[in-house]
Amino acid sequence: MKLKMPVTNRNPSRCLLALQVVGFLFLALLPSRSAAQSLILNPTFQLGLTNWSLRGAGTLQIVTNSHLNPNALLVTNRTGTDAGVAQALDGKLIPGSSYYCSAWIRANTDVPDTVTLGMDFSDGTGTYSTNLAQILSSNSCWSLICGYFDVPTGGVQTVSIYCAGPAPGVSFLVDDVTVVPLTGFRLAGRSFPKVYVGGVGGTSVQSLGNYGRTVISDFHICGTENDTKFANTHPGSNTWSFNSADTIVNVGITNGQQTRGHCLAWHLYNPSWLNNLTNTATPAQIQKFLYDHIDVAVGRYKDKLFCWDVVNEAVGNSGGIRDSVWYNQPGIGYAGQGSNYIAEIFKRARAAGPHTILVYNDYSNIEIGTKADFMFNMLKGLKAQGVPVDAAGFQLHTTRDGPNISSMRNNLQRFNDLGLDIHITEMDVRIAIATNTGVASAADLLIQGDTYFNVFGTALAFPRTKVLQTWGYTDNGSWVPGQFPGFGAALPIDKKYNRKPAWWGMYNALANQIENMPVAASSGDTYRLVTNTMFSAGRAGMFLANTVNDYVTLRANIPYPGEYTVQVGVNKSAANGQFQLAAAPFAGGSFVDLGARQDLYASSSTFTSVTVATNTFTSAGDHFFRFTVAGKSNSSAGYTLTLDYLRLTPTGNDGNQPPAIDDIPDQFVLKNNTLGPVPFRIRDRETVEGALSLTVLSSSNPELLPTSRITLTRHGPQFLLYAAPVTNLHGDATIYFRVQDADGERTTNSLNITVASEIPNTAPVLATVTDRVINAGQFLVATNTATDDQSPPQVLTYTLLSAPPNASLNTTNGVLKWRPTSAQADSTNIFSIMVADDGSPSLSNTQAFTAVVNPLAQPSLSARLLPEDNQFGLHVTGDPGLDYEIQISDDLINWTSVFTNLAPELPFDWMDPSTPAGSNRFYRLLLSP
Ligand code: XIL
Repeated sequence: MKLKMPVTNRNPSRCLLALQVVGFLFLALLPSRSAAQSLILNPTFQLGLTNWSLRGAGTLQIVTNSHLNPNALLVTNRTGTDAGVAQALDGKLIPGSSYYCSAWIRANTDVPDTVTLGMDFSDGTGTYSTNLAQILSSNSCWSLICGYFDVPTGGVQTVSIYCAGPAPGVSFLVDDVTVVPLTGFRLAGRSFPKVYVGGVGGTSVQSLGNYGRTVISDFHICGTENDTKFANTHPGSNTWSFNSADTIVNVGITNGQQTRGHCLAWHLYNPSWLNNLTNTATPAQIQKFLYDHIDVAVGRYKDKLFCWDVVNEAVGNSGGIRDSVWYNQPGIGYAGQGSNYIAEIFKRARAAGPHTILVYNDYSNIEIGTKADFMFNMLKGLKAQGVPVDAAGFQLHTTRDGPNISSMRNNLQRFNDLGLDIHITEMDVRIAIATNTGVASAADLLIQGDTYFNVFGTALAFPRTKVLQTWGYTDNGSWVPGQFPGFGAALPIDKKYNRKPAWWGMYNALANQIENMPVAASSGDTYRLVTNTMFSAGRAGMFLANTVNDYVTLRANIPYPGEYTVQVGVNKSAANGQFQLAAAPFAGGSFVDLGARQDLYASSSTFTSVTVATNTFTSAGDHFFRFTVAGKSNSSAGYTLTLDYLRLTPTGNDGNQPPAIDDIPDQFVLKNNTLGPVPFRIRDRETVEGALSLTVLSSSNPELLPTSRITLTRHGPQFLLYAAPVTNLHGDATIYFRVQDADGERTTNSLNITVASEIPNTAPVLATVTDRVINAGQFLVATNTATDDQSPPQVLTYTLLSAPPNASLNTTNGVLKWRPTSAQADSTNIFSIMVADDGSPSLSNTQAFTAVVNPLAQPSLSARLLPEDNQFGLHVTGDPGLDYEIQISDDLINWTSVFTNLAPELPFDWMDPSTPAGSNRFYRLLLSP
């Protein structure tokens, strides 16, 4: 429960206008039932230009040559590269949070031109633009452009997403724009922008249930498992069925995800009509069926699927080409000619999908061995012939301990060097499960986590690795238990949507590579990156310390508070320094040692994972991890420490953490208006956020704001709340929410909403006046400027609360004037000014500043005979600013003022016009004021 405080609107009049507009939209666009989580309104231009605005100079136009749904946007008549289209996201984003955004683009030019996805934001001091991603686009196909951004924390007033970029005059099409919170592997993988992390899923992906939300939020790829296979898309020799494939592809597109086509020519999963033909049909007939299939399936999705597994599992278990309907039973006309039929299939696929990445995919090929060797030589031969094979697919259905990593590394190296992209296409790690409960042992789950971590880290070491995909997303619906009796639990998320050690293995491989962390070394020491595919993700940081107590500090994120096992990847052969690891929150706090000092003199010459400690991090967020050199061995020459990664895995010893709803600031809305959007997030360490459920429990004031008038839209782990209080009523209402995790653990939080009968008065704000130093006699003028966002404008009155008596303040314009007298020289004066509005009650704001008056310099008066006319004069010196008055007397009793000079330039000479010859005259100098 939070304090009830009226929320200060920086500009209520503008804000209320926005509320009304949103209120209208809220009725027009009630949360859609389709599986989309985007924060973008009208993302497919179905509502024309609604919510979109022109950026720069050009014309926006709705056209029908779209990407997915009937409409797309065309930006034309562009006169600058900045010309494009934008959508404001004001009020929907949480400062400090990260968001993923994407759009499908097609530039209307034969020669590819650069298109930019960017973010404009303003913070009161100006408007800033950030490029989030750039791609080359041409009229030959639609391309996905995607990037991410962090919403600045300080004073952001507006944020909008835009597409712009090509040379002036080049028009471009935009469609299917998304902005979603950046979470899961999309967040973890932000240092690897070219790598897609994904999975595959059946029909459950299609709805926004726990499964669909998990898939959509956390992965780059929304994959089809069986939906694009031959049997499902081509159920009769002349009948096609793309409904379920379309649905998944569309879910992917509406959420900024890529989808993989799987697969075109495989010896399994073919329809019975085809299987029945294998003994009777001619190769020419089989060829026609396959080529038609390729033309239709690849052609249908050529602007939608990023790749196809063109040929699947064509290599036999001990090498050689496998017998199949496509090869030799009866085959498509190249029986007995080795990989020639594969070459033809790839050529056909290329013709149907000129921009689609074409993959050869197989299993039991991740380690060097007969099968992998055969596949490698086959692809090498095909490449040499100019066959359009773009990538090698490694299914990676594996067991608990996974592949031999050094063999995997050597194998991927040669495929990488061959110029093929590397796709891990179907990874799952099956472990033993109890037959009656389906439960795996904790020990096996940990080893499974290592396997995911090691495989991901090894694959990421190769520049051509582009896809890391699992076969399924969760242990629900995985093919493993059916295929391998006694085994299961093969995926990173369990059946209850809890993150497994495997999830953390994938997460750490992506998120916590040393080479991607901000690093600072102690002064005088060197820190540099070293590249070697032996390191996780291919790089490590080498810290060359000079002496004991030197240190290197890294920064890494702790996503959830709690107890973690802290592991560090180090290279023992090069690491001859002992180190002590310590951590401290980035937000402030002292370093705490993590475990004991690590002695790395071990004889092992390989790069190794060292379990440093179990530590409880009491707060989430960025932390410093400091490696302090603690010593070296007699035999070693220096203190070098080569660090590869940090690996943080919740131990689970501290139990299930309850889910959390981030605190929502108190809200204010004027009666007869709709409040919103109010963004807030839910979190949980164990359960993936997509599977947490949020319920509005009750309202403290159901007459004013019944729960039925609260609407929530869900965007991954983020919600936008809209509230429509009952017409003409005002007062306070507290709304209670509950979030629940997979194990039924619940947390309640609340939100206070004030429905005001009128705009509440907010205090004016007085700008600060800088402290001054002046001379006596000089004028001090200080304009006090107050701002008051109230609408209609209120009358502001200024009052001097404290000041020297001779200062004055204009009560209407706030102008303060003071001319310190000579008596006020050498003084320090405090001015306190208040501004008050005429609200009821009146609210005010007070500011103070100091004016120091310099000490007076002693003035002097000296006689001087003015040479030209031989007359008597006086020479006067002193401080500028004061008024100088000269008086004369003949008797030192009666004085007459003869000259006054207000704030003269000094020094000055004064000539006595009436100097009597031969008499005594006295002169004196008076300073004022
Ligand atoms: C499997 C699916 O997961 C099952 O649902 C289906 O019954 C059979 O196919 N290699 C592949 C995948 O390329 O298409 C297979 O998928 C798993 C092995």
